[in-house]
Amino acid sequence: MPATGKTKKSTKKNAKEFDFIVVSNRLPVDRVRNADGKDDWRRSPGGLVTALGPVMAKSDGAWVGWHGAPGEKLDAFGHENMKLIPVELSAEEVELYYEGFANATLWPLYHDVIAPPEFHRTWWEAYRTVNKRFADAVAHSAAQGAIVWVQDYQLQLVPKYLREARPDLQIGFFNHIPFPPLEIYAQLPWRRALLEGLLGADLLGFQRPNDASNFLRCVRRYVNATVKQNQITIGERTVRAGAFPISIDTAQISALAATPEVQERAKQIRRDLGNPKTVLLGVDRLDYTKGIRHRLKAFSELLEEGRLNVGDVTLIQVASPSRERVESYRMLREEVEGTVGRINGTFDTIQHTAVRYLHHSYPLAEMVALYLAADVMLVTALRDGMNLVAKEYVATRANNDGALVLSEFTGAADQLRQALLINPHDIDGLKDSMMAAVEISASESARRMRLMRRQILDHDVERWSQEFLSSLRSKT
Ligand code: G6P
Repeated sequence: MPATGKTKKSTKKNAKEFDFIVVSNRLPVDRVRNADGKDDWRRSPGGLVTALGPVMAKSDGAWVGWHGAPGEKLDAFGHENMKLIPVELSAEEVELYYEGFANATLWPLYHDVIAPPEFHRTWWEAYRTVNKRFADAVAHSAAQGAIVWVQDYQLQLVPKYLREARPDLQIGFFNHIPFPPLEIYAQLPWRRALLEGLLGADLLGFQRPNDASNFLRCVRRYVNATVKQNQITIGERTVRAGAFPISIDTAQISALAATPEVQERAKQIRRDLGNPKTVLLGVDRLDYTKGIRHRLKAFSELLEEGRLNVGDVTLIQVASPSRERVESYRMLREEVEGTVGRINGTFDTIQHTAVRYLHHSYPLAEMVALYLAADVMLVTALRDGMNLVAKEYVATRANNDGALVLSEFTGAADQLRQALLINPHDIDGLKDSMMAAVEISASESARRMRLMRRQILDHDVERWSQEFLSSLRSKT
């Protein structure tokens, strides 16, 4: 507004008022250093931003989130077709809200208490403060009647704070991780406040029907509301909850897999490994939910028993660094790296390695080359909201070859029914399925892959976002 001193109401829409706002803990950009030494932003890999970018461009949209640097205050800025609105977090808030409540309380609680969740009142206070700040940032930037889409477990109180500040908005929320069964959720000291936070939304999306029904059961138990099928009535308002399984940008991954450079890189990877008959691949954030230890145990027993031999097979395990200041993640890294060291020490030869372990993250093109190089993809998560890696692997298999070993405890198992489905806790069963994948015939592999490819070609991330947003708009 011009600094005229008068506050004349203009009919022109204020440039800060956006019709569509996405809110997530992190902004969809990473800071990179250019060749000239200056900082710049690069769009983060991941389907969410690919799916929502076009919606943003069309509908005067903005993205609200943390830019990843503790203690740094940044003004809103434009990137590609998006307007990005950074939310500041102090170093202490990163520790209490992000590493603490989000990743050492909620994350383990929502993933079957695989690691014990910690409950600290100071963490909860910081979670509330930070969620309020995110809600305020949205409330100040949203146009009258705008659509706001809040993403994931870090921001479960944002719908309520936002509704209080701006009852005119249409608010959606999507939980990317599982929602736990009542018996586990019940442990949370702030179980009612958190549910009330979510119930500020008009539509709540979950990955699996089971997540939605877990949530509805918790509401029925802890909130004074009426629950009928997928509808919750609280006072005058109705809130809907349902399953909207997320997917990937299938076209982008397929296109990368079709480029000669990526295909050549895939061949190079196999050559560099000494051309083993079979390449097994695991790709995960280094997280205790991913079942990396179970996978390594099964693999090492197969080597021990001589059912697999080094030279014939190699397991590539990409474990991208994650949440490294959280204790349970540090412990996991030590355990995984100790195990890999033991396996390689026992089974490696001068020429060949059993496990090629890579504690790195890679650009998408390199990931696609790895998928192409792999005969068998191993997804052995103990609990996973979706698992997009499984879908990405399938998206690269244009020749309908390769085999996917997939944990039934992932959301992806609902859609990729023709994978070799496993229970990662059953090590013998896992070993048999790994052998079945190594030995699968071309015709059997093609039969399964064709059906799985049809699924993800039909259901990509764009369709996911359209279905969620049209359900939010339609109010039914
Ligand atoms: C999961 C969560 C996301 C999170 C991502 C990476 O996929 O659902 O919300 O952004 O992990 O974790 P980080 O803690 O690095 O943001």
